[in-house]
Amino acid sequence: MKIIASNFKTNHTRKSTLQFCENLEKFIAKNQTQNQSFPHQIMIFPPQSALLENRFKSFQVGAQNAYPTKNGSYTGEIGLEQLEEFGIQTLLIGHSERREILKESQEFCAEKFRFFSQLGFRICYCIGESQEIKQQGIEAVLEFLESEFEGINLNSPDLIVAYEPIWAIGSGVSASLEEITQIHTRLKQKLGKIPLLYGGSVKPQNVREILSLNGVDGVLIGSASWEISSFCQILDNSIDLRSKE
Ligand code: PGA
Repeated sequence: MKIIASNFKTNHTRKSTLQFCENLEKFIAKNQTQNQSFPHQIMIFPPQSALLENRFKSFQVGAQNAYPTKNGSYTGEIGLEQLEEFGIQTLLIGHSERREILKESQEFCAEKFRFFSQLGFRICYCIGESQEIKQQGIEAVLEFLESEFEGINLNSPDLIVAYEPIWAIGSGVSASLEEITQIHTRLKQKLGKIPLLYGGSVKPQNVREILSLNGVDGVLIGSASWEISSFCQILDNSIDLRSKE
């Protein structure tokens, strides 16, 4: 079973998210039979204002962000109490847009991680290097990725790691199959059985070859997942792939 996750970022409204999720539910129902369930685990991360109750049969709704608190005075943020109202138990932490644009430090990512992992959340923890670090070579990349594990307990149950090179995000050009294989092979030596996703310009045209690589347990998708037709195409193009256990 592969993991296929869609990060809506700052796209979609509550109304369009609901429509998306209903269509997705129909697509999955159409593609499974009584004897054969849908081959992939699916997660959808809508924006906070469009969080939906986590009540769908065939996929999980998760949150793109939350503050490590039950409640309190953190203007503009949501905490555990707000997530609980929707039955949300899945969270993205460490996405490069939050690290780079919103200036979240490694220490803060680790604090969020500790808070929510202790509560039993399923965390999709993102790491990834910039173009500048990439140019310094593979060892510099690995050293940087290692620094993004600081304070992260890799023995936490329900942890998923997403490797998303920043230079491939939203660019339309994913990392090459060789690059993905090289980094995933090295990361897998560290992560063992923790599922490892790739993210960065995954789309209908390349999802199959990326998911077929050794060491790729799934994908985290932004832009190509926002239109339901494109997301269903991604699912359709990879429907017969299963993780090599
Ligand atoms: P992208 O985004 O698919 O648009 O490159 C991926 C991500 O940021 O998770």
